Amino acid sequence: MRPLTSSPDQVDLAEAYAYPPEGMWLRANMVAGLDGAAQRDERSGGLGNEADKRLFLLLRGLADAVIVGAGTVRAEGYGPVRPIPEWGDVRDGRTPVPPLVIVSHSLGLDFDGPVFTEARVPTIVLTSADADPDRLRAAREHAEVIIAGERALDFGVAFRALAARGHRRLLVEGGPSVLGQVAAAGLLDELCLTLSPMLLGGDALRILDGPTVPEPAAWKLAHTLTDEDFLFLRYTRATR
Ligand SMILES: NC(=O)c1ccc[n+]([C@@H]2O[C@H](COP(=O)([O-])OP(=O)(O)OC[C@H]3O[C@@H](n4cnc5c(N)ncnc54)[C@H](OP(=O)(O)O)[C@@H]3O)[C@@H](O)[C@H]2O)c1
Repeated sequence: MRPLTSSPDQVDLAEAYAYPPEGMWLRANMVAGLDGAAQRDERSGGLGNEADKRLFLLLRGLADAVIVGAGTVRAEGYGPVRPIPEWGDVRDGRTPVPPLVIVSHSLGLDFDGPVFTEARVPTIVLTSADADPDRLRAAREHAEVIIAGERALDFGVAFRALAARGHRRLLVEGGPSVLGQVAAAGLLDELCLTLSPMLLGGDALRILDGPTVPEPAAWKLAHTLTDEDFLFLRYTRATR
């Protein structure tokens, strides 16, 4: 074992978290307490610190599309993605913000809410062909809809459909149900995990709440950053 080397220098985060120059890449960004709890009072906001918030916003700026489960949209009261000055030139040549891609089967979403009405780039709804036809009609009136899969959502098909629209640098913000399925399907290329210095116990979800990962890949520690007593771990998939 060896200690992590420490440096007083600040890291250029846009550089440290740059996506590969080509190809589809699926990054997840999650925060968890020391005991693995991915929720505090049914939300994730209380787990992070200012640096975690900054990183969360920067990763949005770096992405071509931000994917999130409807459960998180409802629990966190998601609004649309908004640009921030700290993005600098990271979106040069792209839309001012990445579209939000909401994963839902029930389509029980507030289509009159800001996440749809105030989005700078139309919000995308990701669902399967067996969704309720009336809700599907409502979704189509307020959002772009991608159907991926006949009787169940096929995340592989969905991500390829996003890449075909030019969204190759993908960011998944959870929640655990969506991320659990994506990880189990072997689709994840990178996990950015903020380890928060808290012990929460209880029945909080972990960052994955899905099927057992059938063949766990090996993951490579790409970097470790720290701020206050938080660790910012970036793991990339080492095996295919
Ligand atoms: N620690 C973190 O970093 C972090 C990050 C994000 C969220 N969270 C927390 O996690 C909790 C929410 O997580 P969650 O796992 O319950 O919700 P989630 O993964 O955000 O969303 C679950 C919902 O996504 C839709 N969905 C999932 N799989 C689907 C599929 N195969 N096909 C179609 N739709 C599908 C369904 O929406 P419908 O019900 O509309 O069909 C489902 O109810 C919240 O407490 C949130 O604060 C924590």
